[in-house]
Amino acid sequence: EAEAASAGPTLGFDPVPVDITDRFVVPEGYEAKVIYRWGDAISGHMPAFGPDNTGEDQAHQAGMHHDGMHFFPIEGDDPWEGSSTDGLLVLNHEYIEPRFLHYGSAQGSELQTWATPNHAGPRDADHVLKELNAHGVSVVRMRDDGNGNWAIVPDPRNRRITGLTRMEIAGPARGHAKMATLYSPEGTHTRGTLSNCAHGVTPWNTYMAAEENWSGYFVNLDGELPREHARYGVRTDVGRHNWHLADDGGDGFVRFDASTKADSAAGDYRNEPNMFGWMTEIDPFDPDSTPVKRTTLGRFAHEGVVFAPAEAGQPVVCYSGDDSRFEYIYKFVSEGLYEPGVTRGDILDTGTLYVAKFNDDGTGEWLPLVYGQNGLDEGNGFTDQGDVLINTRTAADIVGATPMDRPEWGTVDFDTRAVYFTLTNNTRRSEDQTDGVNPRAPNAFGQIVRWHEDGDQTATRFNWDLFVVAGPESDSRDMNGNPLDDNNIFSSPDGLWMDADRRLWIQTDISEGVMYQGNHVPFGNNAMLAANPETGEIKRFLTGPVGQEITGVVTTPDHRTIFVNVQHPGATTSPEDFASGNFDSHWPDGGDALPRSATVAIRRLDGGIIGA
Ligand code: FEO
Ligand code: CA
Ligand code: CA
Ligand code: CA
Repeated sequence: EAEAASAGPTLGFDPVPVDITDRFVVPEGYEAKVIYRWGDAISGHMPAFGPDNTGEDQAHQAGMHHDGMHFFPIEGDDPWEGSSTDGLLVLNHEYIEPRFLHYGSAQGSELQTWATPNHAGPRDADHVLKELNAHGVSVVRMRDDGNGNWAIVPDPRNRRITGLTRMEIAGPARGHAKMATLYSPEGTHTRGTLSNCAHGVTPWNTYMAAEENWSGYFVNLDGELPREHARYGVRTDVGRHNWHLADDGGDGFVRFDASTKADSAAGDYRNEPNMFGWMTEIDPFDPDSTPVKRTTLGRFAHEGVVFAPAEAGQPVVCYSGDDSRFEYIYKFVSEGLYEPGVTRGDILDTGTLYVAKFNDDGTGEWLPLVYGQNGLDEGNGFTDQGDVLINTRTAADIVGATPMDRPEWGTVDFDTRAVYFTLTNNTRRSEDQTDGVNPRAPNAFGQIVRWHEDGDQTATRFNWDLFVVAGPESDSRDMNGNPLDDNNIFSSPDGLWMDADRRLWIQTDISEGVMYQGNHVPFGNNAMLAANPETGEIKRFLTGPVGQEITGVVTTPDHRTIFVNVQHPGATTSPEDFASGNFDSHWPDGGDALPRSATVAIRRLDGGIIGA
C-alpha cells in the first residue's frame, strides 16, 4: 500500500496533441457532451435562448462565461459520496462579452458593434439588466440517463444568483461604517455578486463564489479616492460597462457610481465598492436562503478558496489567492472547532486571516492580519478589525507578504496535506524583482507552487517547492528538473483540482491577447492536463475550441464523469471579423452560430475511471 501511494495515480490515457482548430478534443476512448450553455433555461425549457431574450429572460437562463463549478450529489451531505447520476451542478458566470450578449438584439442596432467598454451613456436599462443577470451563479439539477446524456431536471432548487440578488454581510466588516449604503445604512446587506471566478466547497457542503475582477465595474470621480477603492483599482473615469448610466427607476444601477453626489436623491453609494471583493457562501439546497459574504476571509481579487479536509475537534482551514500581479496568497484559520453535522458557515465569521511570506531558502511564514499587531493600527490608519479586512491588501503590504505572479486556484492533497497553487504568469515582473518562488522575469508562462505546513494545517510556518515551471520545451521544468515536451507543454496554469485518486488536474488560461502569438504559438488552444503528484508525470488530457479557456473541474463521486467549462470561445475574434459574423469560434452549436460558454460532461466509453 505504501508503494502504491508513492507511485501515485495512473495516467492511463494517450495524451492529446496541441490543437488550433475549433473543436473540443478528448483522448481516444473518451466522449464529451455539451450539457449547459449560456442562455439555456434553468427550467429545462423556457425561456428559450434567442436574440430577443430580455434582461428578465436572462435571469432564468445560464449566464455567460462559465467558471468555477461543483457537482453536489442530490442527497446533499457528502461531496465524495452519493449519486453520480443526479445532482445540483453549481457554477459561476464570471463576466460578459457585450458584443455577443446583445448580438442581433432588436433593442438597438448601435450595440451590434459595441465591443469596447469606454462608451458614453446613457445606457439602455434592459441591456444593463441583462448584463447584471448574465453574471453570478447557476444552480441547476442535472441527471444522467445512464448513457452520459445529462439533462436539466426541473426542480425548485434551480436558481440564478446574479449581480442583483440580495446578500447578507457577515464577519467583522458587518455593520462597519465603511459598509453603510443607502440600501443598508446599518451595513448588514447588499445586492449582487460579480466577477465570480473560481469557487470553494465548504466541509458542510455549501458553495463559495469568489469575487475577482469586480473593481472595474465601479467609478469614483471624486479625484481623491479612499484606499479601499484606490488599492483595488476602482476606476476614476468610466466603468467597464457604465452601468450607472442606465436608469432602472431606482438605485440598482446608479450604485455603481461611488462618487460623492451633491444631490443624495440618487443615493449615497460611496461605500458600494466595499460590498465586493469577498467570498460569498451559497447553500444550493435551500433556494430561499440569502447568500452571505464572509468578510473574515478578506477583501481582494479572490480567485477562489480551497478548504483543507476538516477534522472533528480542529479548526477549519482554507486558502485563497489574490489574482493580480504582485498580489498575495492567504490562509484562514477558524477560532471555532469543526463539529461534523453541526458546524455551519458562521464558523468562518471568527478566526485569523494570514498572508504568506515565501523565503528563498524554501521555508515560509504565515503573517497574521490582526488589528493592533505588526503595524495594523492607528499609526497606519486602521480603526478596527473590520477596517483591516476591508483594506486586506494594504494590511498585507504592511506586514511584508511576498508579491506573487498572480495566484489563481489552489487544491489540498487530502493524503499528504500538501497545498498546491497555480501562479499563472506575470509579464510585468522585472529581473530585479525575481525571487525563489517567482523565479522568472518577465514570467510569460507561470508555475505551480506547493507547500507542506510545518506541523498541522494551522501551523504558521511551511516548506515549499515548485511542482512545475510551465512553458515551452526550451523554458520549462517538471519537479524532476526535466523540460516539458510535446505531450505536456502548457502555459498559464489557472484551474487546479486534485481528484479522489490524487490526480492533479491543471487547466490553462492563456489570455486571448497573447493566444496564438509570439512565444505562445507552441501552445495552441487552452487545455487541461493531468499530473501525478508523486512522480511529476504530466499529460495533456483535452484541448478546447478557439479563443476560449478551460476552467472549472469536478468529477462525480464514482469518478466516471468529469465536468469542465469552456469559457469565452471566440474571444479572439477581431472587430472586422465580428462585423461580418465570421467569429473565430462557432462552438458549440457550429454553423454560423454565436459562440457560447458551456459546461461539458466527459466519460469513458468503457465506463472506467476518468484519467486512470
Ligand atoms: Fe478569473 Fe484569475 O481568473
Ligand atoms: Ca481563473
Ligand atoms: Ca485566469
Ligand atoms: Ca480568460
